Amino acid sequence: MAQFIQRFHADKSAIRDELLIGLQEPQASTSPKYLYDALGSKLFEAICELPEYYPTRTEAAIFDAHADEIAVSVGRGRTVIDLGAGNCAKAARLFPVLEPAHYVPIDISVDFLRDSVNTLQQRFPEMEITALGVDFSAPFAFPDNVGPAQRLFFYPGSSIGNFSPDDAVAFLSRLAQAGDRDGGLLISVDLVKAKPVLDAAYDDALGVTASFNLNLLNHLNAVLEADFDVRSWQHVGFFNTELSRIEMHLESKSAQTVRWRGGCRDFAAGERIHTENSYKYTAEGFTALLERAGFTLQQAWIDPLGWFMVCHAKVNESLS
Ligand code: AVI
Repeated sequence: MAQFIQRFHADKSAIRDELLIGLQEPQASTSPKYLYDALGSKLFEAICELPEYYPTRTEAAIFDAHADEIAVSVGRGRTVIDLGAGNCAKAARLFPVLEPAHYVPIDISVDFLRDSVNTLQQRFPEMEITALGVDFSAPFAFPDNVGPAQRLFFYPGSSIGNFSPDDAVAFLSRLAQAGDRDGGLLISVDLVKAKPVLDAAYDDALGVTASFNLNLLNHLNAVLEADFDVRSWQHVGFFNTELSRIEMHLESKSAQTVRWRGGCRDFAAGERIHTENSYKYTAEGFTALLERAGFTLQQAWIDPLGWFMVCHAKVNESLS
């Protein structure tokens, strides 16, 4: 029977404080994690189906084409720690080749994991499953039944790109400290490519990414008791070549005042709230980032167009 451990309990006043600090900066910004309320999570699933949004299908094609090689590289029978597991589908597709001894899906909400994990346990009755509800972007401790040996951290989806490079190094360093030489890291990263391809992936013809971004305002209204008028804002998403990152912003269509409980802010026409970055790496650049974090690249798999990379990296000898 799968075990469920919930350690994350949202601190509403800390969330309000964090949001208000960002919104009151001269250049207003919010953390991308606030894009994912219930509707935002559904809109992100829709983004993954879009013809312009190549990462999801490209990653799936890499996993399908190279599953056996990946299993040989990372080793079978590991403790697979699935970071941001969601519905567990990506890891589950690799189970037949990875044959994990212990599967540890982690997400901010165990409630969300519960159904998928129970179904998984029926499909793989012999596998030990421990689902953890923690915010893995902050330091956390593993429960006693998740031993330190042979931990394989699984971080698909190119979500590492939503950290700044320095924050990515800090996050991956914590994984390296928590790992050993027999485990490692299986991680995906989105690669630099032609600007029009990147621009379209984050500003699609149907406007799904625009809705995903604009929905942040609904979320802010609920959390801050604010009066953002969604119709007065527009989505801006583009590749910033100099900084090698997609930037998403919400741009005010006219001069307006937005009020929330305890305060307000004036926005000029054209003023923006910066809502997300998504860094794109070269294969060499990401290998160097892994090194800075205490990992050494073992093997990488790239699609034929050179758009996306799946990496297996091992903890550096000096750390283990
Ligand atoms: C979750 N993350 C990897 C997505 C990305 O591509 O950076 C989030 C996203 N934002 C807009 N579209 C997709």
